[in-house]
Amino acid sequence: MAGSVKIAAIPGDGIGAEVIPAALRVLDALPLDLTWDVFDWGADRWLADGVGIPDGGLEMLSRQYRAILFGAIGDPRIPDMAHGRAILLGLRRGLDLYVNHRPIVLPGATIDLYRENTQGLYAGVGGTTGETTIDVCLYTRPVVERFVRYCLRDLRRKGRRTVTLVHKANAVPNTGALWQEVFHTELSVYPDLVGTEEYVDAFCYHLVRDASRYEGVLTENLFGDIAGDVGAAVMGGLGLAASANLCPETGFGLFEPVHGSAPDIAGTGTANPHAAIASAAMLLEHLGYGTAASAVQACLREARFEATTEDFTVAMLEGLSRYA
Ligand code: IPM
Ligand code: MN
Repeated sequence: MAGSVKIAAIPGDGIGAEVIPAALRVLDALPLDLTWDVFDWGADRWLADGVGIPDGGLEMLSRQYRAILFGAIGDPRIPDMAHGRAILLGLRRGLDLYVNHRPIVLPGATIDLYRENTQGLYAGVGGTTGETTIDVCLYTRPVVERFVRYCLRDLRRKGRRTVTLVHKANAVPNTGALWQEVFHTELSVYPDLVGTEEYVDAFCYHLVRDASRYEGVLTENLFGDIAGDVGAAVMGGLGLAASANLCPETGFGLFEPVHGSAPDIAGTGTANPHAAIASAAMLLEHLGYGTAASAVQACLREARFEATTEDFTVAMLEGLSRYA
């Protein structure tokens, strides 16, 4: 279709192969000029021919597609998750998707949790002698600055009044101090945003006890990974939480559920496609299809108690037919 917006769908492993088709059926039901191709990157291909992201894959994605809808990665046959690092972390780093936005949606309020997505303990710096093992938490100032700047701009655009920096500067002083310094410097140009700080342990505690304390939360890579799962639990389960991995400069995005591949329930038809469909809604919003995104979100609120992937998808399609 000439002129249509193209997305790449990568279901990945486990329940990714169930929830991404569900999300694509939802996208298909919308009156949009949107097309997609499905890529088989994941454990099967890794085991068959050792390929994670094929040669030229990153260039192909950024040239031909506007966004990726990603399922999940993880397979019991690859216990060290080498393919997960190659594929998912390869996409995040390779496409410089440095903002990982993981909204924690609660009745009456949403907390915008932003996770830095390219450095920290995920920078891939370290080594092992077998006896001594090192994984370095690496942060460079420009990487913290661009992340903090984007997040503060986004929070102001959303009309947020408070923002919390989550760190662990009491025990991890070097990166902690860099984040504090950058946060306060960048915040000084936003007099309408009140900044606070919390240690990541206290933050996780308070998030469970009283999430209403937070509006916007900025944090580094690993803390954001963990806090994202705590946030999903507060929402009601990993089956619900969606996320966007963004490069603000190129406009490219990868949208994925926060949950993993759930090999224990893969193939049973019971995976909750809510998170995948909510991620598709974030993708729609990002591509400028705000009305369609709102319709999908409204239907998600009604469909959320269906028991099987198929029933949930059918409930979504029925709901959407009323918006047509
Ligand atoms: C996530 C996942 C990944 C991460 C894994 C699969 C490498 O847990 O997207 O939250 O740690 O970022
Ligand atoms: Mn995670």
